Amino acid sequence: MCSGTWKDQRNVAIDLERRDHIAIITVNRPDKLNALESDGLRDLRARVDEAAGDVDVRVIVLTGAGDRAFVAGADIREIADYDLHEGRTFGELGHAATRALELAPQPVIAAVNGFALGGGCELALACDIRIASTNAVFAQPEVSLGIPPGWGGTQRLPRIVAPGLAAELIFTGRRVDAAEALRIGLVNAVHEPPDLMPKTLELANQIAANSPWAVQAAKNLMAYSRGGGQFGLEAELDVFGDTFGSRDQREGMHAFLERRTPEFGQGSDA
Ligand code: COA
Repeated sequence: MCSGTWKDQRNVAIDLERRDHIAIITVNRPDKLNALESDGLRDLRARVDEAAGDVDVRVIVLTGAGDRAFVAGADIREIADYDLHEGRTFGELGHAATRALELAPQPVIAAVNGFALGGGCELALACDIRIASTNAVFAQPEVSLGIPPGWGGTQRLPRIVAPGLAAELIFTGRRVDAAEALRIGLVNAVHEPPDLMPKTLELANQIAANSPWAVQAAKNLMAYSRGGGQFGLEAELDVFGDTFGSRDQREGMHAFLERRTPEFGQGSDA
């Protein structure tokens, strides 16, 4: 596996760095708070697969570039005018990336260094462990954009925090700061921003010192605790794709881009 960055003509680079047995994947588009468009999602999935397929990698760490954001979600500018087919395809890319994280044989740790909103929160939810900096902010704000969460949030958030709390967070879209995230079990630990990566790597190295076979077997076995989770993910993907082209989806996303408050519920086409 080679370290490096994939950018070419793309807006977002997905960097991959190796430190001994640890692979660090960084979503690198800080000027747009690491928002992910289709190419970025494809590259992220490819980078995760690359790290996951390397027998020398024992732990994968996922983080965002800069000091403001982990990932501020899907690129709203790209998807605002998507039709049903494009919305579905975009949902599939998000599901592929989050499933790659979830199904990587090695443990995956999210080092959440700022905004983890929408798809950014869902990427973190697909990781085995979340460590946050004090400036981390989590939310599933999709309903304020006229869509439901679409990269696994409806399935994974209720498994990680209490189901009633997950419902509140998804129905309101309200933000959760690092202190609350720790209190509700959304993250395992919170550190000052300069300490986030050193502390995350300390944890990764602690895991990497154990038998990689045994750790991976344990991860594999813990997946059974998810029961029939795959069915829920498929249902989520269907519904997410179906919302594109609806009035509320158009209104919600254009209101964000125009920096105004959306007016929802004007039609029943969702
Ligand atoms: N998609 C596209 N662009 C995004 C983005 C997203 N999800 N999140 C941030 N950006 C862009 C902004 O448009 C802005 O670009 P510009 O400088 O070209 O105008 C840049 O990143 C900085 O964001 P800005 O909104 O100016 O910063 P802020 O500090 O005022 O607000 C956030 C930060 C994260 C609160 C705000 O950007 C936001 O709410 N983002 C959307 C989060 C979201 O709903 N994600 C779920 C998507 S499904």
